[in-house]
Amino acid sequence: KCFPKLHSCFQRKLGISTAAMKTETTNKKDEIEPKGGVKSFYTVQEERMEQAERSVLISCPSKTNEKKFMKYLSRHGDINKCFFYESYGTYAVVEFAHKESLTSLHQGTAIPSVNHEAAVPFKSRLLSLKNTGSLDQSSGQSAPLCQPQTTVPMNDLILRLSNESSIDQQISSLTEMHQLTEENVCLRYLVCSLLKDIAAAYFPECKVRPFGSSVNGFGKLGCDLDMFLDLDGISGRSLKKLKAGFSLEYQTKRSASERAVTQSILSVIGECVDQFGPGCVGVQKILQARCPLVRFAHQPSGFQCDLTANNRVAMKSTELLYLCGGLDWRVRCLVFGVRCWARSHSITSSIPGAWITNFSLTVMVLFFLQRRTIPILPTLDYLKELAGPLDKCVIDGNDCTFVSDVSKIRLQDNTETLEQLLQEFFEFYGSFAFNRMSINIRKGREQNKSDVSPLHIQNPFDASLNVSKNVNATQLERFVGLCRESAWMLQQREFNAPPANGAAGGTKAPWGLAALLSPSVSQAAGVKSRRGKKREPASERIKSLLESLKDQGGKATSLGAGK
Ligand code: GTP
Ligand code: MG
Repeated sequence: KCFPKLHSCFQRKLGISTAAMKTETTNKKDEIEPKGGVKSFYTVQEERMEQAERSVLISCPSKTNEKKFMKYLSRHGDINKCFFYESYGTYAVVEFAHKESLTSLHQGTAIPSVNHEAAVPFKSRLLSLKNTGSLDQSSGQSAPLCQPQTTVPMNDLILRLSNESSIDQQISSLTEMHQLTEENVCLRYLVCSLLKDIAAAYFPECKVRPFGSSVNGFGKLGCDLDMFLDLDGISGRSLKKLKAGFSLEYQTKRSASERAVTQSILSVIGECVDQFGPGCVGVQKILQARCPLVRFAHQPSGFQCDLTANNRVAMKSTELLYLCGGLDWRVRCLVFGVRCWARSHSITSSIPGAWITNFSLTVMVLFFLQRRTIPILPTLDYLKELAGPLDKCVIDGNDCTFVSDVSKIRLQDNTETLEQLLQEFFEFYGSFAFNRMSINIRKGREQNKSDVSPLHIQNPFDASLNVSKNVNATQLERFVGLCRESAWMLQQREFNAPPANGAAGGTKAPWGLAALLSPSVSQAAGVKSRRGKKREPASERIKSLLESLKDQGGKATSLGAGK
């Protein structure tokens, strides 16, 4: 099939359909039960990486005839999948059924000769389709159907959410709009595979794996692409020496530490990406960071990329988040809702600093779900107990073992709605004893803080580390203040149910989640007020909130009408 339907790969993998997400909570029971046969993170990743190896990325003239394009390419072999998207021009991702097709394709592909410039003769899988005349001249030529790779703007999002009929539907809808599409995930794996081709010039057996939100189930369209240069699988590393007799080993350069080796590898690969990597621009080597990385923009995909090496623990936390997201459909929905809420009020930011990161925020949601009276998520210690011999994993002396087979996990029957969970999330963190307690998802309960950081979230795989060490008191205060205001808002009749009548154009003023996302709400609700400052009485605040929402609704309506 040329154009697969727009489903998140994650939903499909887990058998969660969009329609299923919208059914009544009581019907969710079946989905809450663990499912046999769900693929492990590692299996999914290997399959996707193999698909990416058989794929190419082709820049096309904007009015390329899809049929002729497919016919032209299928001379090299069967095509499994093909889709188009726009990013600085029109691009096509083409996945062949067999790897041999690429050999044939490469044989028929020319290295360009350019006037007044010279080309680096690096044969990558990023190609350009040139039209020498006859192919696309037929009349009535139209542009190919392009798959969206970005999310809807905030104003449109608020508008769309306001038209839903319950907060549960609002949260599900937000998840559907924000989550990565099947095509976007394919593109992310393909970019990793293109990077692997560059690194493979030095390390032919290397792999480049995506990690973080691109693959943990919590990624939003447009999120960065975190990549891990994996050299662990290089053969010879695990070769056992014979007790007696001859044996051979490689002579190698040596450095003072693992970190120094990682830095030198990333420095060289970063240089290659910069000098030889087509489409890779703005390459920065950030080698002195706690986790050394090479950062660049991959223009053809539009992804901001971070390439790291020797970062296996991040791979493990990605796997843990993936597992948690697959255990209960509400986990991902709540994380999407909370992340979006936090971003809309600048609680999180794309700029590094004293802000709470998306990763920390996600761990906070997981912790909250472990703390329900009937827990929705199990503790990491429980997941470790269920681990089989193949799951054993120790990284830098830290035991990172946990089960990979989801079907072994038994969950209790919690039937809370997303609305209840969102409300309680705000109440939970609006009154959490951050001054004394640390958040610990390994134990699934708060523990006394071991340091003075305002926010302490224990690294699940290294008890001595705090994943939110960067957060300062001001940012934590803003988060707590906003949680309280949001909890309060969701208790008000004016906000927790759709208004009876829409505005003239049929558009409703923001309510529920849409109201929580409206920037004017936090201002009107006095979130920015400092501690000790006397608040307006609730009735006054409701009045100003309603005023601000009316304004919002008016603006939103005119926006919608203009379309
Ligand atoms: P967004 O990029 O914001 O969408 O989320 P992300 O989860 O990808 O976060 P980010 O790109 O900052 O980091 C990528 C991954 O690195 C995360 O998913 C984690 O697995 C890991 N990571 C990030 N920050 C930390 C941290 O402070 N401690 C640990 N242990 N892992 C982290
Ligand atoms: Mg990321």
